Amino acid sequence: MSPKSMSGHRKPVLITGGSGFIGTNLAHRLLSSGQPVLLFDSLARPGVEQNLRWLRDTHGKLVDIIVADVRDAEAVRRAVQAASQVYHFAAQVAVTTSLTDPIDDFEVNARGTLNVLEAIRAQGTPPPLVFTSTNKVYGALEDVGLRRRNLRYEPTDPSLRQTGVSESRPLDFHSPYGCSKGTADQYVLDYARSYGLPSIVFRMSCIYGAHQFGTEDQGWVAHFLIRALERRSITLYGDGRQVRDILSVDDLVDAFLLAQEHMPSESGQAFNIGGGPENTVSLLELLDLMSDLLGSKPPYELAEWRTGDQRYYVSDTGKFQRATGWRPRITVPEGLERLHRWLVDSRPNDGVIATIGTGAARTRKAAGAER
Ligand SMILES: NC(=O)c1ccc[n+]([C@@H]2O[C@H](COP(=O)([O-])OP(=O)(O)OC[C@H]3O[C@@H](n4cnc5c(N)ncnc54)[C@H](O)[C@@H]3O)[C@@H](O)[C@H]2O)c1
Repeated sequence: MSPKSMSGHRKPVLITGGSGFIGTNLAHRLLSSGQPVLLFDSLARPGVEQNLRWLRDTHGKLVDIIVADVRDAEAVRRAVQAASQVYHFAAQVAVTTSLTDPIDDFEVNARGTLNVLEAIRAQGTPPPLVFTSTNKVYGALEDVGLRRRNLRYEPTDPSLRQTGVSESRPLDFHSPYGCSKGTADQYVLDYARSYGLPSIVFRMSCIYGAHQFGTEDQGWVAHFLIRALERRSITLYGDGRQVRDILSVDDLVDAFLLAQEHMPSESGQAFNIGGGPENTVSLLELLDLMSDLLGSKPPYELAEWRTGDQRYYVSDTGKFQRATGWRPRITVPEGLERLHRWLVDSRPNDGVIATIGTGAARTRKAAGAER
């Protein structure tokens, strides 16, 4: 239950990047329970205006938006002042863009996060913060021994195979994007340590679900389904045997709410969050699952490996499970079916998917490579 403001109204939960994929799903859950939400978003990512329109149409005045940039410290301060809790999702999410414009990437991801932290620190009663970091803080995992087995890679180490990568893995930032997100991750943990700010970091694997405008570089599960619905061929970079643990956004929203609930005992902690060893899939295996769903296997071709592509990443989510009792509930086939249903329902004609598809180059530049 959120505290009330001086005027007696319930204070909103602030979601930066709230019009994006993950922000929209969290906002919808909170708003559906009657909790007012304040979105803070520059609408930098093409397509997210559709999410904003949908949230407004669905929830009316319970949702409010500040269209502003996290680089604007004063705008961030005003938004944080009004908030009972903060979720900081706004980010430059593209490895590609970070490589062409590392300063801009740093300003949004590192400086933007520092602006949020300073705004929280300035409050008499600092609102608790959940920050979304990434599994990329662990680097390319090149030392992990792998073997090929059927349509996938798997670690030769049986315990890693069974549990996945834990938070004890040393940090190893790769690419300007990895550095800026990793910097933000460390600042959030340090503000908990140095100033006692109530805050938790999620180091997230691949998230998928409704309201995701997936492209080749970011949101690959949604991207695969969109391509299949458009009857266009899918490019697999590498041999298609690379493995990820994927997590339905509905399970992620459960985890966010639990993180806020358990803030008093878990503040200052980083947690690996993903589908875990029970929800892993290789690219080739995903194509097989899609053929069950669509009735035929989508056409695809293979291309060269991309720089830095991990052949295997699976989260060990045991630490968060032990702290909160959370575990993913939605299986990969079920989550895929939900996403498919949303994609089909959200296109009154072929226009919506076509817009996403033809906007892919634009979207990739702006939103890129959180794979
Ligand atoms: N989707 C995933 O699989 C995944 C995995 C790991 C981490 N993450 C992290 O989760 C967060 C949310 O990701 P998402 O998938 O919802 O991405 P998204 O691109 O859909 O959402 C990000 C939102 O931030 C907004 N934004 C971008 N720059 C901004 C700025 N300077 N000021 C204000 N708003 C700005 C965008 O307009 C967009 O609405 C990001 O921090 C991302 O790094 C996502």
